[in-house]
Amino acid sequence: MPTRILLVGAGAIGAFFGSRLAAVPHVLVSALCRSNYKAVKANGLRITSPKFGEYTFKPEHTFYSPEDARHTKRENGLKWDYLLVATKVLADVSDDSELLEGLVEDGTSIVLVQNGLAIEEAYRKRFPQATVLSAATNASAVQPEPGRITHNRWTRIAVGPYLPHLDNGSAKEGDRVSNERNKKFVDLLTASGIPDAEAYDHAGLQFVRWHKLAINAAMNASSVLTGGAGNQALSLDPELAIHTKGVMDEVLSTAPKILGKEFPWEELKLATPEQVLTSVSRNTTGSRPSMWHDWENGRRMELETILGNPIRLAREKGIDMPRVQSMYALLRMAQERRDHEKVQKGSKL
Ligand SMILES: *[C@@H]1O[C@H](CO)[C@@H](O)[C@H](O)[C@H]1NC(C)=O
Ligand SMILES: *[C@@H]1O[C@H](CO)[C@@H](O)[C@H](O)[C@H]1NC(C)=O
Ligand SMILES: *[C@@H]1O[C@H](CO)[C@@H](O)[C@H](O)[C@H]1NC(C)=O
Ligand SMILES: *[C@@H]1O[C@H](CO)[C@@H](O)[C@H](O)[C@H]1NC(C)=O
Repeated sequence: MPTRILLVGAGAIGAFFGSRLAAVPHVLVSALCRSNYKAVKANGLRITSPKFGEYTFKPEHTFYSPEDARHTKRENGLKWDYLLVATKVLADVSDDSELLEGLVEDGTSIVLVQNGLAIEEAYRKRFPQATVLSAATNASAVQPEPGRITHNRWTRIAVGPYLPHLDNGSAKEGDRVSNERNKKFVDLLTASGIPDAEAYDHAGLQFVRWHKLAINAAMNASSVLTGGAGNQALSLDPELAIHTKGVMDEVLSTAPKILGKEFPWEELKLATPEQVLTSVSRNTTGSRPSMWHDWENGRRMELETILGNPIRLAREKGIDMPRVQSMYALLRMAQERRDHEKVQKGSKL
């Protein structure tokens, strides 16, 4: 029996990992596309990578809509073992867990390769029987034109089962199955040539997410609020550096209070805020984080998952995150006013 995987959202990151998994014997990968459907249907996904060279990945099936996927599933009696979701998270605009209706079966695992915190909840609530695996990657990849993926660098992907009841210390029956499926998925990634795919437990993976969030909240949100300051300014301007480090410290000191454990620095081998600032200050490309590009191009930013969710999780426990809260309040209103103006001018959002 082959292992079947469905990519939900064939953007750069999803397509990159999907194309690797498709190279593993007995793994069949399909893609549920959005704007790149025509290109992928015609030519597959063309990948360029410094590590894996140039290759084309033709999905087993290419779908243009969830209904298309459900229809083919019924017609051909398909079952997906893994639904790999790598869409941008705009929880205030749409609930993407809806896309998976009718695609989840007994034995299906939902793998979320997305930024931010608490992104798993919508999937857990909608599909209480399914295994939810949470993943964080530092791979950098872009899609310069539909169906063409450029992998720039890095491949690290951390995957852990999402078992939030463990935050309160109580294990459940199904946890063992979730851990097994998690290990199996990481084994597939390893077999696909990803050298630094790593399996974590629930808390370990959530700490990785909080760590990534500390950097994203500090760099991306501040870049927008400064009108486009890049890496160098955020780490070298004296006042801004205090702010940037202050945001990272605030996020990293909140995580243990939410997860009920000390931050496992030794175990996870993650960069401290000082190390992040030093490494960022050496980056002279002058490039700006993705949230700034979203703002600059009039697109919605991932404000809820990057800024809103951590402060809400903290608030539930009576903890304040004043730096992150200030950025959230300011950016949310800036985005609202911008979109309101667009509507007034009669242009599309
Ligand atoms: C990505 O992960 C690798 C380890 O697998 C590490 O060497 C590298 O510094 C990481 N890159 C970033 C930007 O964190
Ligand atoms: C953990 O316990 C707290 C307080 O008792 C409760 O509010 C929260 O919902 C619990 N979380 C889970 C995931 O069960
Ligand atoms: C420099 O920063 C940009 C944007 O954050 C990133 O894409 C690029 O990989 C970084 N380069 C290095 C050498 O860290
Ligand atoms: C923050 O910026 C980095 C670098 O551009 C990017 O990899 C990451 O996805 C961004 N996060 C968000 C939420 O925009």
